[in-house]
Amino acid sequence: MHLLLLAALACLTATAIAAPGRKPATPSPKPATPASDSTSPPSFAAPADAASPAAASAPKITFSQCHVEGPYIAMTFDDGPHGANTPRLLDMLKQRKIHATFFVVGQCAAEFPDIMKRIVAEGHEIANHSWSHPQLSSMSESGVRDQLQKTHDAIIQTTGVTPKVMRPPYGAFTARQRSWANGTWGYKCILWDVDPLDWKVRNAEHVKHEILKATVGGSIILSHDIHKTTVDAMPETLDGLAAKGFKFVTVSELIAMDRPVPPKPKATPAAKPETSEGSKTEAGKTPPVPAAPDSTPAPKAKP
Ligand code: NI
Repeated sequence: MHLLLLAALACLTATAIAAPGRKPATPSPKPATPASDSTSPPSFAAPADAASPAAASAPKITFSQCHVEGPYIAMTFDDGPHGANTPRLLDMLKQRKIHATFFVVGQCAAEFPDIMKRIVAEGHEIANHSWSHPQLSSMSESGVRDQLQKTHDAIIQTTGVTPKVMRPPYGAFTARQRSWANGTWGYKCILWDVDPLDWKVRNAEHVKHEILKATVGGSIILSHDIHKTTVDAMPETLDGLAAKGFKFVTVSELIAMDRPVPPKPKATPAAKPETSEGSKTEAGKTPPVPAAPDSTPAPKAKP
């Protein structure tokens, strides 16, 4: 597990937008700016096959959080679908008219086609989280292709929808792999900035507390619908986020609202890249947030 951790951290560091220091302060979500909702100009939207331009204008393909105008956030649920917990979560989301994003594991998608159909029918986004949850960053290209293609196909077969984004298990995906997956399937690589460590601390109160504490406008919140305690946490978590003024959108909706962070006037290249909004986290600073990114073992036993 240590190796996985290190690899994941190295990967996250290399993304250069690894989750910036959390701002535990209250999110001060402004009242919704309706304009963002309806117009949501995809400020960076570049087709996957855009001619690889110079780095300066290269399309952004990795997101840990978004810079958006308005209190928009994306709830994301990984590693399912799960036969019991995912339907329960879907009930909660439906009751609240909330759309989330499900990063499914292909072998689970194939096992629960009806749940897959329900996820899509109820307006949620489905995304690729590999076939069997391996650490992709240490695999061969053909192995990675197999993991992502089989899941891509399973999602299309069960739902008729083509996934647009992916999340690597453990957050472990090299820059080269991200670029390749973007060119191959058009995938954006979605990481996260809020991690309640719900796979580790199986306590609903903890999950709720961590999410409510760390979420800010533009946050991408990681959790796992395979864990009962995570789903148990959701009614109060979702209601608590809504009470703070947050608006729930899918990941693809959130990244379509993403705008460049205004450049900071000061340019001290040697300075420690500590807090900046993800613009220069390249140096060996360990990102503080995803201490144990998504370290859920591959879901083995299905109920
Ligand atoms: Ni996972």
